[in-house]
Amino acid sequence: MENLDWGALGFDYRKTDFNARFYYRDGKWSDMEICDSEYINMHMSAACLHYGLELFEGLKAFRGKDGKVRLFRVKDNALRMQSSARRLCLPVPTVDMFVDACCEVVRRNERFIPPYGTGASLYLRPLLIGTNAVLGVKAATEAMLVIFASPVGAYFKEGLKPISVIIDREQDRAAPRGTGDVKVGGNYASSILSGSHAHERGYSNVLYLDTVERKFIEECGAANFFGIRDGKYITPKSGSILPSITNKSLRVLAADLGLEVEERPVSIEELSTFSECGACGTAAVISPIGKIVDMQTDDVYDYGTEVGEYSQKMFNTLQDIQYGRAEDKYGWCTVVE
Ligand code: PLP
Ligand code: COI
Repeated sequence: MENLDWGALGFDYRKTDFNARFYYRDGKWSDMEICDSEYINMHMSAACLHYGLELFEGLKAFRGKDGKVRLFRVKDNALRMQSSARRLCLPVPTVDMFVDACCEVVRRNERFIPPYGTGASLYLRPLLIGTNAVLGVKAATEAMLVIFASPVGAYFKEGLKPISVIIDREQDRAAPRGTGDVKVGGNYASSILSGSHAHERGYSNVLYLDTVERKFIEECGAANFFGIRDGKYITPKSGSILPSITNKSLRVLAADLGLEVEERPVSIEELSTFSECGACGTAAVISPIGKIVDMQTDDVYDYGTEVGEYSQKMFNTLQDIQYGRAEDKYGWCTVVE
């Protein structure tokens, strides 16, 4: 095993040994190639560089208490990559290609899978890009799927400590009927400015509103939002939110805890009624939100400095499943042999 300070890892790129690649040419996908280079040799006029024909995924492998390595909900990520690829008219990889390559990348980078008990995991980043040379704006005819890995720690340096977020009134993340519900690079490009402004003002993240009425909560940076109130787990529903696999899992765990699950438009007026709220995603896991400030009205919603009861319980159960401490009764984990 690599000799790293596993407990000190942040969410940063770190070189590992191998990545997996597939190439789409002449109407078909190649077999998987295993590569030890971190670089891609690409035409300067490649469609991904000019017109953003690029999409990605993010998922984690965990070394369990029993020493087994588990990939969390890899098939769901494969299906979401397919939906992103259809939206950008990129060649659609099969679920098997995606799942097999993720398992192979985990196996080949075994020495970078953080030891059990460090709180760290191996993050996988599948990336699909249009590679043929273009000048006109049109669908890509050639593409490359790369899957690489990087050991990571917490996304927010606060860990499971509540974060402060700001409701952005300056920029929008995604438009209705745009690409907000798929995982394409363009969504993240348009979030950089608001993210930087939030950081400059001392906030960890941005809470985005819907772009029609600016009344409903959409997402919390690169994570979904949830609130807890009166025995309910409430999470926004909108056509421009990325369907988070973590959120989908928390909805199940919340119901197991006896909470009623509501997935519906959530107005900012409801913020004052939540007893706890949080951001959830693969990188963020659950990041409890301690404070939300509205940039326009200066309204402050304060949820305190402690982790809420339900956020803590859901976090524990989710991690218990991921680290093999609890029964995986929904079959979410793929054990990589
Ligand atoms: N929303 C956005 C915009 C994201 O980038 C992510 C991260 O993947 C999520 C939500 C959370 O999704 P998941 O739980 O599938 O990682
Ligand atoms: C993830 O949670 O996997 C993400 O993709 C977030 C990332 C954009 C930092």
